[in-house]
Amino acid sequence: MLISQTVSKHLVLCWFQVLQKLGKADETKDDHFDQAVQNFKRQETEGSRLQREMKAYLAAVKAMQQASMNLTESLHEVYEPDWHGKDDVLSIGKNCDVLWEDFHQKLVDSSLITLDTYLQQFPDLKIRVAKRSRKLIDYDSARHHLETIQAVVNRSDRKVSKAEDELKKAQKVFDELNVDLQDELPTLWDSRVGFYVNTFKNVTNLEAKFHREISVVSNKNRNSQGDLLYAVGGAFEVETLHDFEAANSDELELKKGDVVLVVPTATAEDQDAGWLTGIKESEWSHLGASAHKGLFPENFTQRLE
Ligand SMILES: *[C@@H]1O[C@H](CO)[C@@H](O)[C@H](O)[C@H]1NC(C)=O
Ligand SMILES: *[C@@H]1O[C@H](CO)[C@@H](O)[C@H](O)[C@H]1NC(C)=O
Ligand SMILES: *[C@@H]1O[C@H](CO)[C@@H](O)[C@H](O)[C@H]1NC(C)=O
Ligand SMILES: *[C@@H]1O[C@H](CO)[C@@H](O)[C@H](O)[C@H]1NC(C)=O
Repeated sequence: MLISQTVSKHLVLCWFQVLQKLGKADETKDDHFDQAVQNFKRQETEGSRLQREMKAYLAAVKAMQQASMNLTESLHEVYEPDWHGKDDVLSIGKNCDVLWEDFHQKLVDSSLITLDTYLQQFPDLKIRVAKRSRKLIDYDSARHHLETIQAVVNRSDRKVSKAEDELKKAQKVFDELNVDLQDELPTLWDSRVGFYVNTFKNVTNLEAKFHREISVVSNKNRNSQGDLLYAVGGAFEVETLHDFEAANSDELELKKGDVVLVVPTATAEDQDAGWLTGIKESEWSHLGASAHKGLFPENFTQRLE
């Protein structure tokens, strides 16, 4: 907004109302501008609070990442070497770790850095607002000085013109600061809406993406915890000696050479009859606990050490 000195002189006269007299000096007051300054302060407080909360949130994400890795490591340690899926525990844990790291980094890149940049606008404006208020006092006192000199009966023209020059100078300094701020403060104030909306959008989008990705990994993780339970239940492995054709859906179709992990059978009756319940190792290493579980005749297999 470019305003010539003449125009701005008039604007200043329009903007300002002389509301009260403080001692000898008139105080110029601009309610419109005071409101803008109040908004500015509020906006800065809100921004700082957002930044503080965002940092706390990021620290919590980092802590979750660390806690998740710690948990994985202790699970891996208690997992005995001959139990299936020991390596899976670690690789799943590492996949989770990568997701946490990625989530954290994207939050930093898209929200924290943007927030820092946003807040960098405030200190300079704050200095200019303070300077404007000092220059306004100078301007008021120069005007009051001129009025005093003009009021004297035997006034000297030299003094009057000197006071006029001083008033002009004070007004010019003030106007330069004032004109820019009258423009910048409301613009900054309006920008907060889009900024808050986008911050919220960015964070929720990243959260949603993170939860989608981690749920895929967690599914695998749940399966491998299932494996752990089977293993703790006293599982052993057998090797298939003869092809076995399943006659029912609760039976396990086997080919000679298949390695089968034996898990507890639901009914003792089946076990007594020479049937075992098992999961083919090849399926189990891919699908974990969701692999097909079925009955097969014990004498078609031989126990592996
Ligand atoms: C993770 O383990 C390390 C080393 O044992 C420990 O210092 C740290 O406090 C743990 N962190 C969390 C978040 O559990
Ligand atoms: C939102 O994310 C985009 C893309 O990373 C980024 O350019 C923008 O500055 C972010 N906005 C806010 C307000 O965080
Ligand atoms: C104006 O008149 C008063 C009283 O006569 C005198 O004291 C004063 O010095 C004069 N001022 C100027 C600026 O001539
Ligand atoms: C397994 O045992 C059943 C019943 O005892 C018997 O009929 C079958 O021939 C045996 N199969 C093998 C491959 O040993």
